[in-house]
Amino acid sequence: MLREALRTGSRRWYSYKSVRRPNLGASSAPKVEPVTEQPGDASTTGNLAKQMRAKILATGPITVAEYMREVLTNPQAGYYMNRDVFGREGDFITSPEISQIFGELVGVWLVSEWRKMGSPSPFQLVELGPGRGTLARDVMKVITKFKLGAEFSMHMVEVSPFLSKAQAQRFCYTHDTLPEDSQLPHYQVGTTATGTKAYWHRRLEDVPPGFSLVLAHEFFDALPVHKLQLVDGKWQEVLIDVAPGADKNLSQADFRYVLSRSQTPVSSVFQAMPGETRSCLEYSLETERQVGLLAGRIEKNGGIALIMDYGHFGEKTDTFRAFKQHALHEPLLDPGSADLTADVDFKLVRHTAESHGSIHCCGPVEQGLFLQRMQGEARLEQLLAHALPENQQIIRSGYEMLTDPAQMGSRFKFLAMFPGVLASHLEKYPVVGFS
Ligand SMILES: C[S@@+](CC[C@H](N)C(=O)[O-])C[C@H]1O[C@@H](n2cnc3c(N)ncnc32)[C@H](O)[C@@H]1O
Repeated sequence: MLREALRTGSRRWYSYKSVRRPNLGASSAPKVEPVTEQPGDASTTGNLAKQMRAKILATGPITVAEYMREVLTNPQAGYYMNRDVFGREGDFITSPEISQIFGELVGVWLVSEWRKMGSPSPFQLVELGPGRGTLARDVMKVITKFKLGAEFSMHMVEVSPFLSKAQAQRFCYTHDTLPEDSQLPHYQVGTTATGTKAYWHRRLEDVPPGFSLVLAHEFFDALPVHKLQLVDGKWQEVLIDVAPGADKNLSQADFRYVLSRSQTPVSSVFQAMPGETRSCLEYSLETERQVGLLAGRIEKNGGIALIMDYGHFGEKTDTFRAFKQHALHEPLLDPGSADLTADVDFKLVRHTAESHGSIHCCGPVEQGLFLQRMQGEARLEQLLAHALPENQQIIRSGYEMLTDPAQMGSRFKFLAMFPGVLASHLEKYPVVGFS
């Protein structure tokens, strides 16, 4: 069916030859009014460091999770809140930004699985942490091209005011930000060129109930993690303290890691999963919470969630790191000036989903394998056949980057969640990409 769908699609997709996706530079970023004070500037990030320093001096060391949350999403100076951080001129580049093949195949996968579930209508296309909105736009194009004959609305879960505008500019014809005092569960609305309604929510809890196709690409790696260490048979938490001698103007060594002297709320409730052998690990309470919410929604209202991220299956110990201008950066230095991230623990995701309710999980499988099973090479050949000669190498190397195990093909993984009632149906009609 996939090959067939791609073949049929190729005739129609002919029309957009603008396959020169690999323009990774800032010129491909949506136009959004610049903020007056640029976060990332020493002034703003310095303020964030000062705020955290003052808090630590007043109330004691903070958890790595609190540090990560503040650095990424502090309303004034958080890394994501007020600027475009993607692309060649930003700090990192993500799969949907590298090649349109990524979003197209994810779109085809969603449509195929939605059809297997009986084509429920209306449905909601939900994305957690949509970045520049490129994946949502590519998936929406696929949905539109397939002419599903179903009503759908789009729901973006995004905390960043800057990125929510960038997303709307990427795939909406018109959009409006609601007044601060609005009592509605969304803060921005838009309409696409084909008349689909789009809504922006700050939290997954605010997305209305209803059958949902949920995407999360590089969202979970941005959620805060706690760092825990086993000491004399007890889990203790690694905290962040002000470095001794750090001057008031904050220079190199502003912060340092310390081990908590007593139990913290998280170390006292943390329960290692059966068979745990690590003596230090990263635990994301927020991931557990968000996966629990997703599982609850899917069980109650029906739907599918596809989680795509870099991660491991419960074996890694220390992955908390920072990226600045495409290079590793010291996470405790200059908070707010670099992206903070930690690998997603897919064992925790799967365990949480399955133990939360009646959920059937597929994966994780490696990204390269998923895209190949989705006939990525067939799509690549179609694009190459219609691309301008000067774009062909860019298109080919983009696809290679996504699938080559030595690049992004192996580190990035896909995990899907379905309602548990479909388990036997999905065994009879296996989920494409996962088998
Ligand atoms: C690493 S970026 C990934 C962007 C996009 N999915 C992509 O792959 O290009 C993380 C995204 O999640 C958003 N984000 C981070 N923490 C969030 C949170 N707690 N709630 C909602 N969105 C969040 C960021 O603003 C950003 O849009």
